[in-house]
Amino acid sequence: MNLVFIGPPGAGKGTQTKRLVEEKNMVALATGDILRQNVQNETELGKQAKEYMDAGKLVPDEVMINMIEGELTNISAEQAVIFDGFPRTVAQAEALDALLNRLNKTIDNVIELVVDDEALVERIVGRSTCKTCQASYHDKFSLPKVAGVCDYCGGTEFVRRSDDTPEKIKNRLSVYNQEKSGIIDYYRKQDLVSEVDGMLEQEEVAGAIEKILVDGGLTYKYAKV
Ligand code: AP5
Repeated sequence: MNLVFIGPPGAGKGTQTKRLVEEKNMVALATGDILRQNVQNETELGKQAKEYMDAGKLVPDEVMINMIEGELTNISAEQAVIFDGFPRTVAQAEALDALLNRLNKTIDNVIELVVDDEALVERIVGRSTCKTCQASYHDKFSLPKVAGVCDYCGGTEFVRRSDDTPEKIKNRLSVYNQEKSGIIDYYRKQDLVSEVDGMLEQEEVAGAIEKILVDGGLTYKYAKV
């Protein structure tokens, strides 16, 4: 089973992806995370992507398609994959279909997380990540159990993303709104899109996603054991 998450910045794509990875042993291809890792390691890809990411713009399709092709070929055919943040344009969606076709895989469901713009800004500016294990927190919605200490690794340093400023969020949101209808229409024509109300509590969103996957007859039979 392969799944695509689509949604604006801050919609909860990463949050729900992490949950599925932990609970269902799926593998995530989270393009923002992969790019940030490359920027941090100053790889050639990171150097190409940095200026676009800093400006809240999309990294060019060609760069992204090459990157995802490289990542996908390292994943076994049986492994269930979640695409978090890819594709974001129709060109990327077409390239992904062609690539999956060559690998005898398909997209089984596309989940669109729908969230009000005002809530997105509040979610993003309040977000932080544990520097050691990258667990995600929020100043209001998802605090560590002990203040200042990561629940998972005990780390005490938390970082915020450089593109999580109000001005850059505005750019990212505007880019998302430009591309959104094209990509949603692309997957609607294949009858793959399920909308989920991303304004609900995180657990309720997770429950709605689980229901869609189960009702759709999708099982985790390919999940890694
Ligand atoms: P990327 O890292 O993918 O950023 P994004 O799409 O802007 O999404 P975010 O990671 O900001 O949000 P999210 O939906 O994952 O929300 P989260 O779960 O963290 O991409 C960054 C950049 O990389 C792009 O701008 C672009 O430059 C480049 N890039 C990436 N992919 C690309 C591609 N395919 N093509 C070209 N360029 C690409 O949640 C946010 C916060 O809200 C968290 O604190 C969380 O705790 C909280 N939260 C989550 N759910 C809820 C809830 N239900 N209620 C309350 N709070 C919640």
